[in-house]
Amino acid sequence: PHAPLVLGIESSCDETGVAIVRGQELLGNAVASSVEEHARFGGVIPEIASRAHLEAMVPMIDQACTEAGVRLRDVDAIAVTSGPGLAGALLVGVAAAKTLAFALDKPLYGINHLIAHVGVDVLDHGRLPTPMVALLVSGGHTNLLLVKDICTDVVSLGQTIDDAAGEAYDKVARLLDLPYPGGPHIDRLAAQGDPRAIAFPRGLTSGRDMQRHRYDFSFSGLKTAVARWVETRRAAGAEIPVADVAASFQEAVADVLTRKAVLACVENGATHLLIGGGVAANGRLRALAEQRCAEAGITVRVPRPTLCTDNGAMVAALGSQLVMAGATPSPLELPTDSSMPI
Ligand code: KG4
Ligand code: ZN
Repeated sequence: PHAPLVLGIESSCDETGVAIVRGQELLGNAVASSVEEHARFGGVIPEIASRAHLEAMVPMIDQACTEAGVRLRDVDAIAVTSGPGLAGALLVGVAAAKTLAFALDKPLYGINHLIAHVGVDVLDHGRLPTPMVALLVSGGHTNLLLVKDICTDVVSLGQTIDDAAGEAYDKVARLLDLPYPGGPHIDRLAAQGDPRAIAFPRGLTSGRDMQRHRYDFSFSGLKTAVARWVETRRAAGAEIPVADVAASFQEAVADVLTRKAVLACVENGATHLLIGGGVAANGRLRALAEQRCAEAGITVRVPRPTLCTDNGAMVAALGSQLVMAGATPSPLELPTDSSMPI
C-alpha cells in the first residue's frame, strides 16, 4: 500500500497554511501571513486574522496542489487544526477542510496545533525517537510536552502561566522601540550586547514557585522588570544600552527555557529534545540548548525554520501519521476548541 497523500490546513493564528504530504515526504507547502496587517497594533488582531484567512485560503489550497503537482481529487485525507488558537481564525480553516472532505468524500482529521508542531519534525529528521520532550515556543504558546507516541500518547508537562515566550520578546522589543514582531530584532541586537550586564529575574525557578510550577514558565515578571529598568534610566535622562538590555533579557529567557527543558528530559527518561515554534529560531536559545543537552547526553532536534513557524505541513504531517496508524477520522461535525488541551 502506498503512503497516504494528505492535505493539511492551518489557520489557528496569523498564518494561512496549506500543505500536501505523502507519508513523511513534503510535496507542497504554501503559507500566507497577515503579520504585516497586525504590525501597527503590536500584536495579532483576531478579526483581521480571520478575514485574512478567508481571503488566502483558496489561493493557498491552489498553490499547495500546484507545488505538489497533485489534483485535489487524488488526496486521500484532509487534516486541519481544530485547536488551540483564535476562535474565528480556526473556524475558517475547519470550514474549508470540512467542505473539501465532504465534496471529495475523504476522511477528515482534526489536529491539535501543539502536537502538530512536534509531528512536523518527521519531514526533516524521520521517525520520532520516544519518549521525547518537546519545547514549543512561539508568540502564542510556551509548552513542555512529553511525547510517548505522537498519535496516542502526548502529555502536557507544563506551560506559561502568563505571557508566551515570543510575546515577551515582542513586548520587550516594543519597549525598546523595535518593530513588530520583535524577536528577530532582539536576537540580532543581543549578539552585540553583554548577557551579564543586567540581572533580570528567572521566573518560577526557585523555592515554592519551582516546587509548584516545576515545568511551568512565567515571563510577565521579566517583561515588567525590563520595563522598569528602561523607564528608570529614561527618567534619569540616561541613554539606554539597547544591546545590553536585549542580551540580558534574551539570556534570562533562554536560561529558563533550557533549564526546565533539560530537567524534563532527565526526569522523564527522554534522550531527545525537540524545539519548535517561531522562537526556536533564536540563536542564544539554540546554542544554550545544544550546550546543556550535550552535557546531559540529550540530542536536540529542531525542524528547519519554515517548519518551526506555523504552516500547513505540520498539520499534514501529523494527519499522515494518524492515517498510517489507523486512527479514527473526525466526524464532519468536528468543532473548534480555542483552548484545546493536549
Ligand atoms: O511560530 P510563530 O511564527 O507564530 C506564532 O506566534 O504562532 O512565532 C512568532 C514569534 C514572535 O513572537 C517572534 O517575535 C518570535 O516568534 N521570534 C523570535 C525569533 N524569530 C521569531 N524570537 C526570538 N528570536 C528569534 N530569532
Ligand atoms: Zn504555533
